[in-house]
Amino acid sequence: MNQILQLRDVRKSFGMLHALDGVSLDVSEKTLTILIGPNGSGKTTLINAVMGYFKPDAGSIEFSGRQIAGLPPHKIYRLGLARTFQIPALFWKLTVLENLMVAEKDHPGESFVKSVVARTWRDEETRTATKASKILELLGLAKVWDVPAVNLSGGQMKLVEIGRALMSDAKMLLLDEPVSGVNPTLAHEIFAKLVRLRDELGVTFLIVEHRLDIALDYVDYVHAMAYGKLVASGPPASVMSDPKVAEAYLGA
Ligand SMILES: Nc1ncnc2c1ncn2[C@@H]1O[C@H](COP(=O)(O)OP(=O)(O)OP(=O)(O)O)[C@@H](O)[C@H]1O
Ligand SMILES: [Mg+2]
Repeated sequence: MNQILQLRDVRKSFGMLHALDGVSLDVSEKTLTILIGPNGSGKTTLINAVMGYFKPDAGSIEFSGRQIAGLPPHKIYRLGLARTFQIPALFWKLTVLENLMVAEKDHPGESFVKSVVARTWRDEETRTATKASKILELLGLAKVWDVPAVNLSGGQMKLVEIGRALMSDAKMLLLDEPVSGVNPTLAHEIFAKLVRLRDELGVTFLIVEHRLDIALDYVDYVHAMAYGKLVASGPPASVMSDPKVAEAYLGA
């Protein structure tokens, strides 16, 4: 299987604290891969390093065969990597459809030259709306397309965030706790939708999630961290029966 993301000996310290203490891991293309580990083990720091929110102190990060360690976030985003946050960040007064439309990577509103050519602008607007509708359909949000984001349920807000990330035509999405604070029924629905997005759009997911009771039923591969290091990797059953993983959680 092709590796879409490869980290080699990635390091990041905050003062004396080694938040990432030499992490090497691969993510295979078109998988749902989950990153687990107790609080403070370095999961969000790893996502921030991949997305260019800071430069790693050392190590290599390759995305689709390209070295991205140290590139700024907007360049990484343009290469096809997008993320969501632990707490959804939406435009609360805009509708669901509008939230997706404004997330489009090459939205015509960004370009003065394009926006003065009205015909181009209209064509692109139509194309963007068509793409947004398709994504809303896949996410099961078609019925609430005209609802302002502020009126959605917590689970729907998480889905809109994923929809916004997909509008960039991302090949890979990094999701930080996509089902935290969501009731179990909806949490299962969200993971079922991620499986569908993997299969129908060929998107790769790297997911940080504490709700293992829900997530493990859906994921292909697990990486477990503790104290800034990778302690186990493999299919869910093998990682969950690894004594090093149990020890990491007990020690935390
Ligand atoms: N900007 C920062 N400055 C100083 N320390 C930081 C910073 N960001 C993270 N840390 C520290 O790095 C360590 C790893 O934090 P990180 O947020 O990556 O953990 P996590 O695995 O995402 O935890 P959680 O499951 O609680 O979200 C923690 O000890 C944290 O306090
Ligand atoms: Mg975190």
